[in-house]
Amino acid sequence: MNLEEIAKEIKDCKKCPLHLSRTNAVPGEGNPKAEVMFIGEAPGRNEDLQGRPFVGAAGKLLTDLLESIGLTRSEVFITNVVKCRPPHNRDPRPEEIETCFPYLERQVELIDPKIIVALGRHSALTLLKKAGRREGSIMRIRGKILKIRLFGKVRMLMPTLHPAAALYNPKLKPLLEEDFDKLKELLGKRERGLEEFF
Ligand code: URA
Ligand code: SF4
Repeated sequence: MNLEEIAKEIKDCKKCPLHLSRTNAVPGEGNPKAEVMFIGEAPGRNEDLQGRPFVGAAGKLLTDLLESIGLTRSEVFITNVVKCRPPHNRDPRPEEIETCFPYLERQVELIDPKIIVALGRHSALTLLKKAGRREGSIMRIRGKILKIRLFGKVRMLMPTLHPAAALYNPKLKPLLEEDFDKLKELLGKRERGLEEFF
């Protein structure tokens, strides 16, 4: 099973009620060998219309943040916890997350990124919960590199704020930038061979 086959399955998926209201499922996109994987919460309106992740205003900010640290969208992999847009952008329900989760699990296993960046509280808390960890506040854990046992192995997770949150409240933007700088530093250390950093 490769990423394209998973994407095809997602596009035809009817396993949860979100398939009823979607225009397009949004499997995610990017480099199958990405070192960094970004996981948002769920597709929004633009994503649903285009079938691609983070293509609206929040996506523009994400793209800019990536470029500010010398990365392009095609170098990384971008996806969401649930692959279909919840009606009126409501939060995905626990049973929808549960039903959709095996797709994300297979994507993470195949890509096997060096680090997963959780975009926003919902994504971060969902992944931490799966790893058996309970962390209440995104403000306390953002920008931290957490080692968690997720999908069968120990993985690095960096929670950060959702780009949409920084658009809503511009005071949060410097925090998001700070977290991306942290990511840049981390990836730079890898390139210089300082594996022990991990
Ligand atoms: N917000 C998300 O969480 N994911 C998207 O793909 C777009 C906006
Ligand atoms: Fe299938 Fe996930 Fe879409 Fe639900 S949200 S229909 S489980 S792809």
